Amino acid sequence: MSKLEDIVSLCKRRGFIFPGSDVYGGFAGTWDFGPLGVTLKKKIMDEWWKFFVEDREDMYGIDAAILMNPKTWEASGHTATFADPLVECKECKSRFRADKIADGINESVTTEEFLATHTKCPVCGKENWGPIRKFNMMFLTHVGAVLPDDDKEIAEKNIAYLRPETAQGIFTNYKNVVDTFYPDLPFGLVQQGKAFRNEISPRDFILRDRECSQMEIEYFVNPSAWEESFESMRSLQHEFLEDVVKLPKEKIHELEVPAEDRAHYSKRTIDFMFDYPNGEEELMGLAYRTDFDLSNIARESGKSMDYRDKKTNEVFIPHVIEPSIGVERLFLAVLSTAYTEDEINGEKRVVLKLPENLAPYRFCVSPLLKNKPELVEKAKEVYDTLRKKYGNVTWDDSGNIGKRYRKQDEIGTPKCIVIDFETLENDTVTIRDRDTTEQIRKNVSEL
Ligand code: GAP
Repeated sequence: MSKLEDIVSLCKRRGFIFPGSDVYGGFAGTWDFGPLGVTLKKKIMDEWWKFFVEDREDMYGIDAAILMNPKTWEASGHTATFADPLVECKECKSRFRADKIADGINESVTTEEFLATHTKCPVCGKENWGPIRKFNMMFLTHVGAVLPDDDKEIAEKNIAYLRPETAQGIFTNYKNVVDTFYPDLPFGLVQQGKAFRNEISPRDFILRDRECSQMEIEYFVNPSAWEESFESMRSLQHEFLEDVVKLPKEKIHELEVPAEDRAHYSKRTIDFMFDYPNGEEELMGLAYRTDFDLSNIARESGKSMDYRDKKTNEVFIPHVIEPSIGVERLFLAVLSTAYTEDEINGEKRVVLKLPENLAPYRFCVSPLLKNKPELVEKAKEVYDTLRKKYGNVTWDDSGNIGKRYRKQDEIGTPKCIVIDFETLENDTVTIRDRDTTEQIRKNVSEL
């Protein structure tokens, strides 16, 4: 199994992911996607959108504002309950998420339960803890012209939060979509976008960030049919993860989340766990959110969230099945699956065996020799043709051909095309396969 440090190093070396604000020494819990990272990330997001929205008739996309009326977070329960157990070491003042440094406890741990675990401070090694305090993870900001020396009342009146989940931008648009599109049940509203969480301990590279991207579906169903839709969403997730982004089936494990560990809104949750290089972690969640959100919105806004079934005239508030996945977690699952170290003719290499539909570049085109204008000219012609046809094609004439192959292997380019003297005679090129390193000759017109 690949090591996380090797993947982090490759990501920086080859321009996939850099630490956020790197030039200033970084900024904990933030990461910047470089030219290759943003391409891979976009391809993952586009595949997801195609699979769950474009290829279906029952899904509608939306793109809601990140800043939302703070009533949203009152109604959703986030203001009151979106909190982690914070514990401080009285010796060195380091702060931790209690359930992440002690075994056998969960997010609702009490001070007494935590102290009974006799956990030592991971920083100073002492055992001298303050009480567990609830730390709300929403990032707080102020909207409009609020100054630091304004009185508390003005500041409080203008409080807003960066959204901690994209889901609420969907729920608050449910009525707009029902009133404009009149969709039949079941139907889904779908969104991709940024979410922000002030994690106490961001960790494991891009697995636990303070700023992440989510892809969420709120699938509205007749309450009497929730189980059926839950099962169909469950198998669709497997289909996407295994057949579209090609994660190995044996690395995905379902975890039925017990009632005491479920989010406040969920009556049933299955976490899809993945075998990452550092161990098993949550990749995504599938939750039955009932009518929790729509009923709360109806109460707080005074607007009806009722749905009238066109066939039966039955009126009810739909229930919701929610598959929710973090883009960064899926990105790392894809990358760690692809990361391979092997040996070719006695020489070690790193190769990213990315599926063809996700690889940042589909082809790399090179002239065999950079100092032969006739080869360069022909290679440019092939490059332009392929770029027009496929878009994601790269050019490389640096170093020798062996070095070019090593570089393209590391960034996951499935095929390298080399233009040599034979090309000038019969229009055939060498095509080298990334995974097998085998080379074949083909006519340019067959590419
Ligand atoms: N709307 C439901 C919701 O937000 P969640 O389990 O808190 O549920 C859903 O988050 C998914 O978002 C997770 O399974 C994970 O993939 C991703 N996610 C959550 N917090 C994250 C973080 N701090 N960094 C990266 N991804 C995160």
